[in-house]
Amino acid sequence: MCGIVGYTGFKSAAPILTDGLRKLEYRGYDSYGIVIPERTGFFIHKACGRISGYIPSPEVSSGTCGIGHTRWATHGDPSDENAHPHTDCTNSIAIVHNGIIENYSELKRGLEKRGHVFRSETDSEIIAHMLEEAYNGSLFSAMKQVIPYLTGSFAILAVHAGDGEIVAARFKSPLALGIGDGELFAGSDITPMIGFTNRFIFLDDGDIAVITPETYVIYADGIKVSRDIQQLDLSPDQVRKGGFPHFMLKEIYEGPDVFADAIRSLTSETLPEPIKDAGSFTVVGCGSSYHAGLIFKYLMEEAVAVPVRVEIGSEFKYARTPLSEVIIGISQSGETADTLAALEKGRCHNHSTVAITNVLNSSITRMAENTCFMHAGPEISVAATKSFIAQTGILMQIINIRSNERYDEVLGRISHLMQIVSLEPLTEAVNLCKDSLHIFFVGRGVMYPVMMEGALKMKEISYIHAEAYAAGELKHGPFALLGPETPVIAVCLPGRTYHVMISNIKEMKARKTPVIAIGEENDTELSDIVDIMIPVPGAHLWQHVLQVTVLLQLFAYHTAAALGRDIDKPRNLAKSVTVE
Ligand code: F6R
Repeated sequence: MCGIVGYTGFKSAAPILTDGLRKLEYRGYDSYGIVIPERTGFFIHKACGRISGYIPSPEVSSGTCGIGHTRWATHGDPSDENAHPHTDCTNSIAIVHNGIIENYSELKRGLEKRGHVFRSETDSEIIAHMLEEAYNGSLFSAMKQVIPYLTGSFAILAVHAGDGEIVAARFKSPLALGIGDGELFAGSDITPMIGFTNRFIFLDDGDIAVITPETYVIYADGIKVSRDIQQLDLSPDQVRKGGFPHFMLKEIYEGPDVFADAIRSLTSETLPEPIKDAGSFTVVGCGSSYHAGLIFKYLMEEAVAVPVRVEIGSEFKYARTPLSEVIIGISQSGETADTLAALEKGRCHNHSTVAITNVLNSSITRMAENTCFMHAGPEISVAATKSFIAQTGILMQIINIRSNERYDEVLGRISHLMQIVSLEPLTEAVNLCKDSLHIFFVGRGVMYPVMMEGALKMKEISYIHAEAYAAGELKHGPFALLGPETPVIAVCLPGRTYHVMISNIKEMKARKTPVIAIGEENDTELSDIVDIMIPVPGAHLWQHVLQVTVLLQLFAYHTAAALGRDIDKPRNLAKSVTVE
């Protein structure tokens, strides 16, 4: 979690750093801070909360080098003291850190015994004090001496008072450099650098880089190494809202194009070799990525009769049963610690590993032997929307390629069908639900994970307790909670589950539960028994999966908007979950 950014060049650093931190806030926004080396000492501004309103005035510091941090608190409350940057006792070294130093307590005790005084409760502050002890005129040498003592994960940027140089170190937390003309950037990802340069280097684990306005040198094990420069032509527009009130809404509307791009990106030729004939799969992911895996399970087992086991990333490490032939790790960010750990476990047991991710050069692409890219473009809103659509597209395309009965036509029409959603009944549904304390989301078969995803979206951005249930499970306990105060949203579409869903809905209505149904247009049997009917056009089951997904994304969005929630940055969350 946390985002870090660095700049050294010929422009005033403060506005570049603060603007960069705003773009990195999806990684956490409990506090922010920047530090700019002055001739002696530093200019430091740090505070609890978001950076949104902070605009550095030019007279504050005109320094042309600096580093910054936006925090998702792990060690110590969100507070001014715990906000990065952290400095050493002499106030001549400052650092920002993303990751977790697992052995910090032990290191801190040693430093305290040797007279160091700490000002924060963070694990990160020890790095500044350790650099102070190791420093004898070269920040790089100090970093080189300190790194072997740290266990855990880190991306660190450090500066020394009076210098225009940044020292950057990476181990298991992402860190990229941006190469400009007379200016260099560093960041947890490239979003703060887009618009300044299109030339990037993604550091490897163990790399230490020394960055000045004109040059950079990268060391691995103390020896100079060269890393490839990647040219990525991304425009600032790709990270702007483009007229939408929130990134989430913009990203939902990008869904149909993203779906089309995702399925186009994967063909029988580009499908990773291990997937082509595997007799079983294990899929691992967290949150929405886990739900995409569950959808894959239902559809793959039905269409190709190949067994798929799906595991939550954080639980996979406790699994003892034998793994299947191929492990697929799904992660939008490519940085989710639990998903990475699951792939690592798979590799240790000599299984083939495939990553499905949206981020080029993310950690998961280094961990897995093969990668399928989602091509969804940058997703800024914390809630996954278009990335979930892209994941589902990639997974459906895998089934399509593996199946004897080709689904090309079905897939080809999905983007169009996703755009035909009726907003009017959705508004009624929002009015019915927005003041509820609890909402149930129910479905059967593949619609069960689709509803799990809908409930996750609702709870994370509206803060209403939303719970998904397999409709058949309601009678085994949750029915005790149903009644006039607790609406249920149910998917009831033609097919194998239709009649039993109708019976389940009647049972709910007998308990005076308000029911909102997503059903096929002109289905009067259904519309007659429910309070609100949200119609979708007749379609194939796979097409319904995407139509219902988009409806539920919009349902959550408009409910959260009606409640005035902070939609793109819901409380207590971060987009990239890089800790266990
Ligand atoms: C929900 C959401 C999260 C992520 C989860 C995994 O809207 O965004 O549940 O899906 O944190 O993230 P990735 O896919 O980056 O591994």
